[in-house]
Amino acid sequence: MCGIVGYIGDKQAAPFLLDGMSKLEYRGYDSAGIAVFEKGRIRVEKCVGRLEALRQKLSGNMPAGTMGIGHTRWATHGRPSDRNAHPHADSSGEFVVVHNGIIENYMSLKEELLAKNHVFLSETDSEVVAHLMAVNYNGDFEETVKKVLGMIEGSYSLVFLCAKEPDKLICTKKDNPLVIGLGTGENFIASDIPAIIAKTRRTFIMNDGEIATVTKDAVWVQDIKGTPISKKVFEVNWNAEAAEKGGFEHFMLKEIYEQPKAMRDTMTGRVAHDGSRIDFEELNWTKEDFADISKIFIIGCGTAYHAGMVGKYYLEQLARVPVEVDIASEFRYRNPIIDSSCLTIIISQSGETSDTLAALKEARRLGSRTLAITNVVGSSVAREADQVAYTHAGPEIAVASTKAYTTQLLLMLMLAVYVGQIKGNLNDDRTRELVTAIKQVPEQIHQLLENVEQLKVFATQYGNSEDVFYLGRSLDYAVALEGALKMKEISYIHAEAYAAGELKHGTLALIVEGVPVIVLATQNDVYDKTISNLQEVKARDAVVIAIAQEGDSNIAKYADHVIFIPRAEKYLTPLLSVLPLQLLAYYAALTRGCDVDKPRNLAKSVTVE
Ligand code: M6R
Repeated sequence: MCGIVGYIGDKQAAPFLLDGMSKLEYRGYDSAGIAVFEKGRIRVEKCVGRLEALRQKLSGNMPAGTMGIGHTRWATHGRPSDRNAHPHADSSGEFVVVHNGIIENYMSLKEELLAKNHVFLSETDSEVVAHLMAVNYNGDFEETVKKVLGMIEGSYSLVFLCAKEPDKLICTKKDNPLVIGLGTGENFIASDIPAIIAKTRRTFIMNDGEIATVTKDAVWVQDIKGTPISKKVFEVNWNAEAAEKGGFEHFMLKEIYEQPKAMRDTMTGRVAHDGSRIDFEELNWTKEDFADISKIFIIGCGTAYHAGMVGKYYLEQLARVPVEVDIASEFRYRNPIIDSSCLTIIISQSGETSDTLAALKEARRLGSRTLAITNVVGSSVAREADQVAYTHAGPEIAVASTKAYTTQLLLMLMLAVYVGQIKGNLNDDRTRELVTAIKQVPEQIHQLLENVEQLKVFATQYGNSEDVFYLGRSLDYAVALEGALKMKEISYIHAEAYAAGELKHGTLALIVEGVPVIVLATQNDVYDKTISNLQEVKARDAVVIAIAQEGDSNIAKYADHVIFIPRAEKYLTPLLSVLPLQLLAYYAALTRGCDVDKPRNLAKSVTVE
């Protein structure tokens, strides 16, 4: 995720900016840059790569000035490059901006600006904001910011510099974090507290829609109508390490809690404002594109493979195309029957997994069309595939994948709705129903995350078990696989998932008194069958923890414990039912004293075969 820092005061800005940006490095980034007001103009310096590359570029020629902004970029629009790095300026260089988030309507704004002969130097959505500032400037910096905010749609935290008004920085935010740090004779802006705690612990958090004018001696906050807002200042008492994790004990937990925001970012620009349809501008598929597609392959490893299993249900049910799901390391050596009538969807959070990349190359060699679903812009699979759709989950640091998985599911569901619309399988009413359900998910996840006490108790009660089993049918089975993977990789408990109907074909022999069995029972069409399987394990004295939908008054008769998820449309249940499984694994790992973020023997990105 991108990082922002800003400084205004009596001291040199550049050293603070570089230092603050280094404190945000843990969030992941691909390029970095700073802008400093120097001798009557704004000097912008930026480059692709690590901060060290920027430091070297500036060595012996550090911008001199006491006001500036800095940015570490995690690419969303346009691959990592010097030109796409922030800050961005308008053509005159008088307005400079750093931006986190996504400007949803940047294409139409850019087209209007291009028609007025504006020249763009980057492929980013953010650059339009600097141009809009220049076009709309009326001698009043604050008023111009407000006017531009009325023109842009999407999510953002933004910090502006204006060469004509060099005594202030202006910043604002919507759906992206921004904090202000208060010093004496100096003030600070950052996307995250670690960037500023070496300088000050007196901070306040900006809320959506607030606009702050930051000078060296004061900070003035107002809303878009000019109504003053008084902010509550608080003292940060986290240490630097806790601050990186946003106050969470582990990155994994932080990332679990980031899921509502990650979901919203995945939806950004893809869900029509009136809720009537899904669009993937980056794919721009037509009915003809699908006329000759006879089969879809979905390929990934680990969690990405599990996401593919859910994707199969979505695409088969909503788009009515046959789908085969493969583990990348199997696909690449199994001489698959695949040709130009196939579409191969490659799923990879990192976009760098060696087997996945090899499978993608194999699919292309055999003539298949290819689409990459990845979280990392400009990654190897993004470059190698014919087309790419980004999940926009933000950097995932914990080895155990959480928000990458749920955003992959969401993206595939939206993709299935998109193809369903294009092929005419979904009528307007059904599409609207699905879109409405999709839009509710971030809030439903938020609700789930508010209520985790019960999960902590179960994790303490059962965290020392040797084995745990996960059962489910249909979509619940696919989610069960992911739940078991989470449990084994971070708690080292032997965890296995089975299609519930398979139980009596062998696994039932392992079910003995006291073994915890997690039964997912969220799918109405196979509910009774799942309950029968639940009873089979209960009859062997297993301890059953059921995951069911709110309002299911039946299940408590059979299970020892029930975890309820908000009631949702069938296709959305995997996005909800996986949450308690992620948290159970997390708290079980804590109970067992495991290193949650760095489990033994595992790496975040598996770039070797
Ligand atoms: O970066 P990728 O999505 O290609 O990674 C694939 C797997 O290595 C990954 O999903 C792994 O299974 C997770 N760490 C599990 O939490």
